[in-house]
Amino acid sequence: MERPDASLIRPIALRRHRLPNNLVLAPMAGVSNLPMRLLSREFGAAMGFTETVSAKGLVLGGHKSRRLLETSPREEPVAFQLFGAEPEVLGRACAMLADEGAAWIDLNMGCPVPKFIRNGAGSALMREPLRAAAVIRAMRGSFHGTLSVKMRAGWDERSRNAPEIARIAAAEGAELVTVHGRTRSQFYRGSPDREIIRRVVEAVPEIPVLANGDVTEPQHAFDLLRETGAAGVMIGRGATGNPWIFRAILERARGGELPEPTAEERFRVLERHIGLMRRSFPDDLQLARNLKKYLAAYSRGLSGAALFRTRVNESDDLGEILRLSCDFFDPRRSPSREAA
Ligand SMILES: Cc1cc2nc3c(=O)[nH]c(=O)nc-3n(C[C@H](O)[C@H](O)[C@H](O)COP(=O)(O)O)c2cc1C
Repeated sequence: MERPDASLIRPIALRRHRLPNNLVLAPMAGVSNLPMRLLSREFGAAMGFTETVSAKGLVLGGHKSRRLLETSPREEPVAFQLFGAEPEVLGRACAMLADEGAAWIDLNMGCPVPKFIRNGAGSALMREPLRAAAVIRAMRGSFHGTLSVKMRAGWDERSRNAPEIARIAAAEGAELVTVHGRTRSQFYRGSPDREIIRRVVEAVPEIPVLANGDVTEPQHAFDLLRETGAAGVMIGRGATGNPWIFRAILERARGGELPEPTAEERFRVLERHIGLMRRSFPDDLQLARNLKKYLAAYSRGLSGAALFRTRVNESDDLGEILRLSCDFFDPRRSPSREAA
């Protein structure tokens, strides 16, 4: 096996934050909530991004937006991700978060879903560079903490303008940008384009760039960093139900190799995850629904996982899901079940 270049894993220095390494947890609606962020940090992620929060919802005092902002001093630094399209509203939302002590705010310019696009938010902002500039300017004007922007490669094949948008972001005061190497029209299809990420790195030498897309194994992080020259990597789906990925990358940089987690180890971490979730989801139904998002990944590769997933997906009953999990991950299971 090729020996990874350990120097690719390194700290990131920003004006107000110093990240001990360059592995970060991606913003994921419905997924990168406080329990998952805390768990990712325990496994070595340098920081995490919240689920995306509506700037308008926040300004109007919506309960949902509030819940998404749940945080803990144990996860600092954390970036609060906002979405929206109106400069004034984004500026006000930043001022509110600043008043409440937020130290890092991220702008969502990557989300491809129609609900966002219809309102000119998410990756739709990449089609309107002037509006994007005005939004970032308004955010910068009312917020003195760390400001970052997350984008895609561009809108579609004909408009791969991430380097231009990154230059605008940096000029308006963003201190870090993340690039998911797919266009909006690709959604999650195809492979992320590393070349466009490399071009963004070259376009904004004054600020760090995080490369994002399809890091699901430790070696992918080294490949992405080497091929793009990015300062760090952001990991989303590859860390969902798999916090070990952060520890495994750090271990690989030290020349070691972490074995695949056993069923027993997975169960131990799953219990920890559920413990953290109990504090964030007092309601059993909500907890059950959120838990289901991670169980597929926790069970991946173990024999009987497909049946376990089917059963879990048929239920919204927390007690039953916990029972199924106990049975499936039973530490007394035979070692041969872990080989698959
Ligand atoms: C379930 C899910 C929710 C997501 N929600 C957000 C979001 O709220 N804000 C955002 O900027 N990106 C969001 N993304 C995109 C991820 O941050 C990331 O860019 C994308 O998944 C590619 O990285 P990955 O291959 O490591 O998952 C989401 C992705 C997934 C799978």
